[in-house]
Amino acid sequence: MENKPLRLGGKRDAALKRATEIVAAAWDEFYLPREHEPLMEPALAATLHEGLPEKPSDPIDSLNLAAEVLDTSLAHSRPRFMAWIGSSGLEIGALGDLLAHSYDINLAIDSRAASELERQTIRWLGEFVGYPVAGGAFTSGGTVSNITALAAARERALPGSRKHGIANVRVAIYCSAEVHYSVRRGVELLGLGSDCIRAIPIDANHKMQVALLAENLERDVREGITPIAVIATSGTTLTGALDPIDEIADICQQYGVWLHVDGAYGLPAAGLPEKAGDFRGIARADSVSVDAHKWLFVPKACGAIMVKDRSTLMATFSHNESYMLHEGQSGNAVDETLEYSRPLRALKLWLAFKTHGAEEFRQAIAANLSQAQALYDAAREDPRFEVLPFRPELSVSPVRYGKNSSDEFQSLLVQKLQEDGRVFVSAAEIEGRIWMRPCFTNFRTTEADALSLLEIAADVAKSLDDTGSNHS
Ligand SMILES: Cc1ncc(COP(=O)(O)O)c(C=O)c1O
Repeated sequence: MENKPLRLGGKRDAALKRATEIVAAAWDEFYLPREHEPLMEPALAATLHEGLPEKPSDPIDSLNLAAEVLDTSLAHSRPRFMAWIGSSGLEIGALGDLLAHSYDINLAIDSRAASELERQTIRWLGEFVGYPVAGGAFTSGGTVSNITALAAARERALPGSRKHGIANVRVAIYCSAEVHYSVRRGVELLGLGSDCIRAIPIDANHKMQVALLAENLERDVREGITPIAVIATSGTTLTGALDPIDEIADICQQYGVWLHVDGAYGLPAAGLPEKAGDFRGIARADSVSVDAHKWLFVPKACGAIMVKDRSTLMATFSHNESYMLHEGQSGNAVDETLEYSRPLRALKLWLAFKTHGAEEFRQAIAANLSQAQALYDAAREDPRFEVLPFRPELSVSPVRYGKNSSDEFQSLLVQKLQEDGRVFVSAAEIEGRIWMRPCFTNFRTTEADALSLLEIAADVAKSLDDTGSNHS
C-alpha cells in the first residue's frame, strides 16, 4: 500500500472534533478560578521525559495528553491569574490563530489579501490608541517591537550605521529608570553598548523626570555625544506608570531626537476617552510599541510596531538578495521588518475587532482599570494590608500583607499563594521592598476576583503564622 506520510487521513475529522471538545471545555473552565493549583502527576512527568517517538500513535491520544499538559500548567487565561502581565486567550482570537496557522501564510513577502489585512489591522490599532500610523507590522512582542524602533532610530541619527557600524561615534539612549529590560537588550544587540543608556530618575509617581531628561540631553550634546532615541514608557511593567509623553516630545523636538513610546502594556488604555489625556502627545512619537497579546486580550504572540514615517523602516531594513528579488518598485515585507518569516498574527486582532467592536474592548479595559482602583481602596481601608502612597494609573495595584512584615515573609507569602492556586499573583521589588503585584489585563476578571486576593492572601498568611513563619 502506498505510504503517505504526515497525513491524518481518516482520523482527521475525529481529531478536529476532539480538539473542538477540548477547547470548548477549556473555554468553559476559564471563566472559573482554580480551586487549587494542580500538581504534575508522576505518570505525566515520566511521559514528558520520554525520547523521540519513532512510530505513529493515535492523534486522539496525543491530543488528550496535550490537554492534560495544558491543564497542568499555569492558567494565564483564568480570572484570578494576576501575575506579571497576564494574558486572556480571547476566544475569537484563538480561532483566528487556528485559521492563520492552518493556512500558514508567510508575511515575509507580500501575501496579497493577507498583507492588506495586516495593514488594515495596524491602521485600526493606530486609530484605537490615537496614533497616526503610516507604517509598521505585527511582531512577536514588545521586545522585537522595541528593537525594531531602536534600529530605525539609530539609522536616522547615524545614516549608514546599519552598514558601517557606529565606529567611534559616542551615542546615548534615554529612558526612565524603570524602562522594560527589552530596551536594554535592544541597545546591546544593536552594538550600541548598554553603558550608553541614560536611566533618567523617576519621580514619586514613578514617572520619568523630564527636567533631568533635558539636563542629560543638553550635557551629552555639549560633549559631542549623539542622542539616538528617547524611550517614553506608557505603562511601566513594575507599577503601570505613564511617562509624560507630551513634555518628553517637546524636548525630543528641541534636540531633533527620535521619540519611541513603549506602550507594550499600557497603550490600549489610551483608547478610552476618559484616559486619553494621560497619553497626550502620543501622536508626536516617531514610533510606538503595543502588545495586543497583553491588554487587547488576544493570544500570544501579537505585538505591533507602528511608525509615523514608513520610509524610516525601509531605510533600516530594505535589502535585495538573490533569493528575495524585488519585482519592479514594490518591496517585500521584510524590507520593513526585523523578522523574516512572519505568521499572520494580525488575523486574531482583526477578527476580534470585527467580532466585538472597539467599544467592547474599551469596556473590558475600563473594567480592569476599575478593578485596580477597587483593590487599592479595599486594601487601603483594611488594616491588614499596605498600599503604595499613589493610586494605580493603570491596572497594576501592588499590596503588602502586614504593616511591618519583612520582605522574606512577603516573598514566602507569594510562593505559598502560587502553590495554593486559588489566586495567582507574582512578587516584585518596588522602592526596595517586596510587594504582591497584581495586574489586571484579563476580560474574564471581575471585581470580586480582584478583591479575592485580600481574603485569600490573609488566609494563606494565617496558615503561615500558624506554622510559625515570622512576619518581621
Ligand atoms: C513595557 C513593556 N515593554 C516590553 C515588554 C516585552 O514584551 P514581550 O514580552 O511581548 O516581548 C513588556 C513585557 O511585559 C513590557 O511590559
